[in-house]
Amino acid sequence: MPHESPKSRIAIYPGSFDPVTYGHLDLIERGAMIFDHLIVAVARNSEKDALFAPNERREMIEAVTYEWKNVEVDIFDGLLVDYVQSRNAGVVLRGIRAVSDYEYELQMAMMNRKIEPAIETVFMLPGEAYSYLSSRIVKELARLGGDVRAFVPPLVEERLRAKVG
Ligand code: PNS
Repeated sequence: MPHESPKSRIAIYPGSFDPVTYGHLDLIERGAMIFDHLIVAVARNSEKDALFAPNERREMIEAVTYEWKNVEVDIFDGLLVDYVQSRNAGVVLRGIRAVSDYEYELQMAMMNRKIEPAIETVFMLPGEAYSYLSSRIVKELARLGGDVRAFVPPLVEERLRAKVG
């Protein structure tokens, strides 16, 4: 036998998730289908000015992913690769929507590989209905009084309205 049977595949899906959108959920669903365990990891020290605190972001993701039994939500600090190793995971999952995402994602994946060659980055495509969606656009829409119900789950819509309404 050239290989031992594969150990359980744990993947980390990191991001700001400020807030979680249907695009993220689409990717979480796809990731949960191909990995044994998927950890959605909310970055505490995101460079972006966050609207929601890390705990609020985690709570919202937990509330909308509870049906997927192999999905866990966590918050991480510091370097992503350190967190990946601390969770015994071997894979970082990221979504690519359009060509415009590619350069940044390539840079991050290559940098992470340089720091820790044992960790693989896996890219998945969200459903095309979500290819234009981003948390930034949803926040802007909410701030300007637009209807965000097509883009985020009802709970997130309520939280957005409470925050910016
Ligand atoms: O949803 P985002 O904002 O595109 O996610 C970016 C994130 C959080 C995945 C990225 O900024 C990250 O990994 N931050 C942790 C710090 C780190 O490891 N930086 C070096 C990456 S090259």
